Amino acid sequence: MDFLVLHRREHLLFHFYISRAISHPPKRPGSRITQSSAKLNIFNATRRLSTMSSAPEWIELLKKHVDKKDQHTTVYAFSTLSPEGKPRVRHCIHRDITPSNLLLTTTDTRMQKPLQLGEHHQVEIAWWMEPPAVQFRLRGQAFTLPADQNQVSKALKELGVQGEEADAKWWEEKRKSIWANDMSGHLRGSFGRPPPGKPLSEIKEKPEDWPERLDAESDDPEQQKLIDNALSHFALIAFKVEWAEYLELKPSPNRRTQWTKKSDGSWDKVSVAP
Ligand SMILES: Cc1cc2nc3c(=O)[nH]c(=O)nc-3n(C[C@H](O)[C@H](O)[C@H](O)COP(=O)(O)O)c2cc1C
Repeated sequence: MDFLVLHRREHLLFHFYISRAISHPPKRPGSRITQSSAKLNIFNATRRLSTMSSAPEWIELLKKHVDKKDQHTTVYAFSTLSPEGKPRVRHCIHRDITPSNLLLTTTDTRMQKPLQLGEHHQVEIAWWMEPPAVQFRLRGQAFTLPADQNQVSKALKELGVQGEEADAKWWEEKRKSIWANDMSGHLRGSFGRPPPGKPLSEIKEKPEDWPERLDAESDDPEQQKLIDNALSHFALIAFKVEWAEYLELKPSPNRRTQWTKKSDGSWDKVSVAP
């Protein structure tokens, strides 16, 4: 465990657990407080702390800078590989971070990203946040989580998530919650329009007849049909980060820090010349 990277909160919790370990030894009938039981408690306290500090430092920095209401801190360039292994890049909006530190964005299943992620999971994002003048570059693996629960279950196995996030139902709730709470009516409408990227010459309906906006749900059965169709194209993309870089442009000289995830789940950290 690297004590140098502990945050203040974790230091406080560490002292709390250690002092509890000494003052509250395990109570077994007829047992006396022994040095070994106190040591065991300190060992368990240290293990609990080690789990808590598994949240990488870079994600705390990311959370500190992201303001969901400010597009200057929520848009990043998201790069994938085409089926032939050629780079492809576009901008996406950051939507959320899950309890296991997966980054979430959204897509229309009819776009190129889901197709590309079906072939190659390796992705990289470059994320410039203007007011704090910092850039994050994050590399790892991303998976599309659409309405189809079988596809979600398969992706979850590959992501290797545990706990509530290992359940496809958790992701269906998340998908619907982002659809209802984080997407504007105009954006929801786009999922009910013709397939993105299709030549206009091949589309019969005129653009003025395409749905302008859609509610998250409706009491009107005709409207609800349009919503169900749009929602069927709406998917989350979950990004498991394996390498992170943080570039700070405000300090002089600038600072650049990199983290690499190790096979045991902990992170190596190195400061490099900017
Ligand atoms: C500021 C901005 C934010 C965007 N956010 C998203 C997004 O969150 N998800 C998305 O699929 N496309 C988003 N787009 C559109 C994409 O950049 C891109 O045009 C679209 O996803 C089609 O790309 P693809 O076919 O390569 O997947 C955004 C575009 C801009 C300019």
